[in-house]
Amino acid sequence: MKVLIIGGGGREHAIARKVSMSPKVNKLYCAPGNAGIAECAECVNIAVSDFTGLVDFATKEGIDLTIVGPDDPLVAGVVDAFENKGLRVFGPRKNAAIIEGSKAFSKDLMKKYNIPSAAYDTFDNSLEAIAYLKTSSYPMVLKADGLALGKGVLICNSYEEAVNGVKQIMEDKQFGSAGDRLVIEEFMTGREVSVLAFCDGTRILPMTSAQDHKRAKDGDQGLNTGGMGTFSPSPFYTTEVDEFCKKEIYQPTMDAMKSEGREFVGILFVGLMLTKEGPKVLEYNARFGDPETQVILPRMKNDIVEVFEACIDGKLDRITLEFEDNAAVCVILASYGYPDHYVKGFPISGLETFDRKDDYFVFHAGTKKDGEAIVTDGGRVLGVTATGMNLMEARKKAYEATNWIDYANKYMRHDIGKAIEEVK
Ligand code: AMP
Ligand code: GLY
Repeated sequence: MKVLIIGGGGREHAIARKVSMSPKVNKLYCAPGNAGIAECAECVNIAVSDFTGLVDFATKEGIDLTIVGPDDPLVAGVVDAFENKGLRVFGPRKNAAIIEGSKAFSKDLMKKYNIPSAAYDTFDNSLEAIAYLKTSSYPMVLKADGLALGKGVLICNSYEEAVNGVKQIMEDKQFGSAGDRLVIEEFMTGREVSVLAFCDGTRILPMTSAQDHKRAKDGDQGLNTGGMGTFSPSPFYTTEVDEFCKKEIYQPTMDAMKSEGREFVGILFVGLMLTKEGPKVLEYNARFGDPETQVILPRMKNDIVEVFEACIDGKLDRITLEFEDNAAVCVILASYGYPDHYVKGFPISGLETFDRKDDYFVFHAGTKKDGEAIVTDGGRVLGVTATGMNLMEARKKAYEATNWIDYANKYMRHDIGKAIEEVK
C-alpha cells in the first residue's frame, strides 16, 4: 500500500513510525513532515491547508490511504475533499470534526445526551457575557468557541479577571473568529486524563490512557502550551473509571453523533477530569493528541494500518486492541520562551544516540534540515520518550535520554510524571 500522512509534528512522527512498521505498507509519504519523519517517510512540501495540492498529490501518486494528523484541516473539511475525489482517508468529516471545532456544539451535545460535563452557558455578545459574570462563582472558565491553538481557555479567579478575559476573547479578538462565541463553564477540580479512541461511526475502541502536562513551567505554572510531556498509562484511570466512561461517556458520544447525522469516524480524544462526583468531559478533540500519541503508540502492539482500515470500513468489531504491559514517559524539549517568543535555527546534537535503542525514541516536532545539520524550527522541538517496566523506570530513562540532546536555548519541565510518586 501507498500511505500519506498529513502533518509535521511530534504526533505525526509517532504515527509515521508506527505506520512504517506495518507489513502492508510499501511506500510512506508525509506532507509536509519534518527532519525526523524524513527518516521513515518521504516528505513532500505541501501545506496541511492546501487541500487541492494534497488531493492532487494523492490522486497522482495513487495513494491507497491518507491519515490526517492536525485539527485545523479536519475542522476545515479535508476528509470531505479527499472523499469527494474517491480517495480513502482516515479522519472525521467536517460535520463530525465540529465536536472539536466548536466548544458550544460539544457542550450542547453533552447536555442533550446526558453526558457528564461541567455546567455552562453560551454567549454571542460580550455585554451579556459580562452581565452573567456578576452571578458566577470563582474560579470559573472562559472558552473561545473555535480553534485557538490550544490557547483559547482562560481560568479566571475573580470577576475582574473574567471581564478582562471576555474583552480579550470577544472584543479584541485575541483568537480571531474563534472568539465570536464564548462558553462560560463551571470550574472543575480533579486529576486530568486523556483517552484516545478509534471510532468507526458506530463503535468506539479506547486505547490505553495517558496524562498530559499543559503548563509551560514546573509545578503546573506558566502559560498553557500544546503539552510539555506525557505519561501512559495513567495510574489514576482505574478499571472502575474505565467501565464508567465506556458506559456513560464513550459509547453515548458515538450514539449521540450518529443520532445527529454526524457519524464519527477517526480518533476521538476525550479529555477527562476525574472529579469527586465521577469522571466528566473537559473537552473533545477529533484527532490524536500531541504529545499523548508519543507515549501511546510506542506501547501499541496492533498493526495500526489494519485498525485505520477497520474504522473506515465500519468493521471495528473485528479488532481487539493490544498494548504492551509496560509504561512510557515523554519529555518535550522546547525552545526557551515557548509558548511566547523564542529564537530558533540552532543546530541539534546527539540525535544519533537514539539509533538502535529499542526503548528510547526521539520524535521530531519543530526541526528542519539546514544543509547537513538538523536545526531547531519551533517552540516544541523534540519529544524524548522512553518505555520501562513501570512508570518510575520509564521516567528515569526518559530524563536520562534528555541529556543526550543538546542545542542552544534547550528548555524542558523537570516534573513530567511526578504525580506517579503519589501512587502507592
Ligand atoms: P481544553 O483546551 O478545553 O482542554 O482546556 C485546556 C485546559 O484547561 C484543560 O486541560 C484543563 O486543565 C483546563 N480546563 C478546561 N476546562 C476546565 C474546567 N471546566 N475546569 C477546570 N479546568 C478546566
Ligand atoms: N495534548 C493535548 C492535545 O493534543 O490537544
